[in-house]
Parts: sequence; C-alpha cells; structure tokens
Amino acid sequence: MVFREGDGSMGRVEGKVALVTGAARGQGRSHALRLAQEGADVVVLDACTEIDSVPYPLPTEVELKETEALVAATGRRVLARTADVRSQEQLDAVVDEALAEFGHIDIVAANAGIVGFRPTWELSDTEWQDMLDVNLTGAFHTVKAVVPAMIEAGRGGSIVITSSIQAMLGSANIAHYNASKSGVMGLMRTLAAELGPHGIRVNTVNPSAVETPMLLNEATFRIFGPDLENPGPDDLWERSKNRNPMGVGWLSAAHLSNAVLFLASDEAQYITGVALPVDMGVRL
Ligand SMILES: NC(=O)c1ccc[n+]([C@@H]2O[C@H](COP(=O)([O-])OP(=O)(O)OC[C@H]3O[C@@H](n4cnc5c(N)ncnc54)[C@H](O)[C@@H]3O)[C@@H](O)[C@H]2O)c1
Repeated sequence: MVFREGDGSMGRVEGKVALVTGAARGQGRSHALRLAQEGADVVVLDACTEIDSVPYPLPTEVELKETEALVAATGRRVLARTADVRSQEQLDAVVDEALAEFGHIDIVAANAGIVGFRPTWELSDTEWQDMLDVNLTGAFHTVKAVVPAMIEAGRGGSIVITSSIQAMLGSANIAHYNASKSGVMGLMRTLAAELGPHGIRVNTVNPSAVETPMLLNEATFRIFGPDLENPGPDDLWERSKNRNPMGVGWLSAAHLSNAVLFLASDEAQYITGVALPVDMGVRL
C-alpha cells in the first residue's frame, strides 16, 4: 500500500486494473472514480442504449464520455467502450482490448442493471426476460469474459457483483428484479467456491435505495406513492426513510463505492462468498 501525498488517497488498489460495467452514470461511474482515486487503472463500459421495457431513461454515450474524462482527471489510465452486457461477444471484445492495453484485470465490478415495476402476474415475457438478460445473464457474461485471463495471470483478484437488498427481502412489484438479484447471489457463491483456489474472491454488495437515476424518476415516485396525485422526491425520501432504523431516505453512490473499494482491496484478503448489505439496516 502506497500513500500518495497531496490527493488524500491511500493507494488502496494501486497497481491494479479494474473493469466496471454500467459505468456511464450512477454507481458504476462512482465505482470507477473511487477505484481510480485509490490507484487503479480503469476499464469502463456501458450499453448507452434505451431498453423498451425500462420505465426511465437510460444514458447515452455522452455520459460514458463524461465518466471517461472524470477518471482521466484523476491521473489514472482509462479505457471507455460502449458494450452491452447482454452480448458475450461485445464483452469479450472489450476485455481483449483491455488486456492488450493494460496486461491484466484484477478487479471486476459487475454493476450494470435495470429495474421495473409490475405485479408478478402482469409482467410480460419481455419485461421478465429483459430483466434476467441484463441483471443476471449480464453478470454471467461479464465474469465469463474476464475470469480465464484472471486465472492465467495468477495475480488473484476480486469480483464484486451488484445485487440488491431486495434479494434479502420481499417487496411487491419487482419479482423479475428480485429473481435476477437473487440469481447473482447464487452465481457469486458458486464462483467464490470455484475461484478460491486461484486467490480470486467473489462477493456481492446489496444496496437499498441509492441516489441515482434508477431511483429518482417518475416510475419510482409512483410506486412509492400510489395514493399521491403528484409524488416526487420529497415523498419518496419520507416513505423510504421510514423503512429503515437510521431514518435516511437513500444512500449516495459513494457509500456503495466505498464498500466495493473495500471488497476490491487487499484489506478484504480473505473475504469471499459474502453478500454485503449496504442498507441503513432496512432488513431489521
Ligand atoms: N439505485 C438503487 O436504488 C439501487 C438499489 C439496489 C441495487 N441497485 C443496483 O445498482 C446497480 C447500479 O444501478 P444505479 O443505481 O447506478 O442505476 P443507473 O440506472 O444510474 O445505472 C445503471 C447503469 O447500467 C447501465 N446498463 C443498463 N443495462 C445495460 C446493459 N445491458 N449493458 C451495459 N450497461 C447497462 C445503464 O446504462 C446505466 O448506466 C444496478 O445493478 C442496480 O440494479 C440500485
């Protein structure tokens, strides 16, 4: 661990290379920045495309370029590419390019995800399938693209998949989301068993509400305030804060990035197979 004077960082992932999916905005952007601030070179990717079954706008390449510029401003190297986690081919291509550029990948934040709301029996096959394709199969594609090179490099590593606190609870209207986020916990545990012998640790972070465009949009306001004529962010904060003992409506993306950074760093050397709630105690 190297302390780099002046910028307040501790170099907690100095010399490592991180791959972050869903990095055009939100938690993914924050993870990329936090890891870069602590010394990692970063590969960022995002689909930068609308998905018809998603009830809020998704980002464009403009936001991915902003992430790229923000990471570059930390002084670390960055590779930014448009790629959809639903496509193994696209992920393989980014990983090949990243390996040619950086030589190895040590940290993976499989963060890309979508959400939607509907009673289970009213979900269309498309809504169900899109959710599983992005959130569950997307995480599978991500690890499949990168794990062989991680094993071959023989440097160990850390994979952090973003699940959700919903996979530990049961809330109405998100069966497809919950199934996908429970699925990645199963994927994580199996991978942890398979990759332990290679010194590669695999964990999930399980956030409750996080202040990103996935949370702060019309569709979410309506699902939290079905009885209100024009529900907005203040109503969401009020109702959300009453669901946890710490009385906070939502976390910022940086809270999750700090958890990802810890799991990615050598400080978590023997932590694997763990689902880490970052949730203000909403489970209690
Ligand atoms: N915001 C919350 O309240 C909350 C709570 C629990 C878990 N999560 C999870 O956190 C993760 C990050 O979400 P966020 O809150 O930053 O939301 P966000 O919508 O701001 O960011 C998600 C990112 O994933 C990208 N993405 C979506 N589909 C993709 C695909 N097929 N291929 C590549 N990229 C794709 C989006 O373009 C977007 O940039 C997600 O997995 C989400 O399910 C969020």
